[in-house]
Amino acid sequence: MDETTSKSEGKESEYEFTEITLRQIELSDVDDFMEWATDEKVSHFCIWDTYTSKDQALDYIKNNAIPHPWLRVICIKNRAIGAISVTPNSGNIDSCRAELGYVLAYKYWGKGIVTRAVKMVATTIFSEWSNLERIEALVDIDNKGSQRVLEKVGFLREGVLRKFMSIKGKSGDMVIFSLLSTDVVQH
Ligand SMILES: CC(C)(COP(=O)(O)OP(=O)(O)OC[C@H]1O[C@@H](n2cnc3c(N)ncnc32)[C@H](O)[C@@H]1OP(=O)(O)O)[C@@H](O)C(=O)NCCC(=O)NCCS
Repeated sequence: MDETTSKSEGKESEYEFTEITLRQIELSDVDDFMEWATDEKVSHFCIWDTYTSKDQALDYIKNNAIPHPWLRVICIKNRAIGAISVTPNSGNIDSCRAELGYVLAYKYWGKGIVTRAVKMVATTIFSEWSNLERIEALVDIDNKGSQRVLEKVGFLREGVLRKFMSIKGKSGDMVIFSLLSTDVVQH
């Protein structure tokens, strides 16, 4: 392969990273799901434990992810490389807000993919759910990449919730971010 070919192929694959789509998860996504769910680098800051079997993943997809009120897989060429969710509250006093979550397979980190996915969600979700006024995200204080994603989209860093949550058996401080329906999404 000559230098010209490899350079143009490199450009083409970088271009692909801007062409992400979001769609409903399917049972047939299980092998792609396993790519990130079994990776401790990915699960490190997440509340779920690293997956250890395909049956566990199938069970989660079938019983939690498919019935979830708003969960989409992040895709390149329709192949799932991560997931993003918005979980609404259902109580009388908190139904104005919903919690954002996301995850991406390790080999795709640092290419702007989740920032793009969050922007897509932030520009559409408020019109999909007319009662929704706020999306919030809770991020481990050491999860700098995730905090940066939210800042780049235009979320407000509201503060630190001390010893707020126990992740992987250790309680830690969480940063709370929010985006209101009236806020401007950065482009
Ligand atoms: C966090 C995560 C979603 C980010 O996705 P991503 O597609 O790699 O993010 P992006 O490329 O859009 O943006 C990442 C930004 O964080 C920055 N960043 C990454 N690691 C960083 C670090 N350790 N310190 C400071 N900044 C960091 C990047 O430089 C980039 O900012 P820039 O564009 O200004 O350079 C991804 O790493 C992931 O899936 N992590 C595991 C799961 C997880 O933590 N989910 C969130 C739970 S709250």
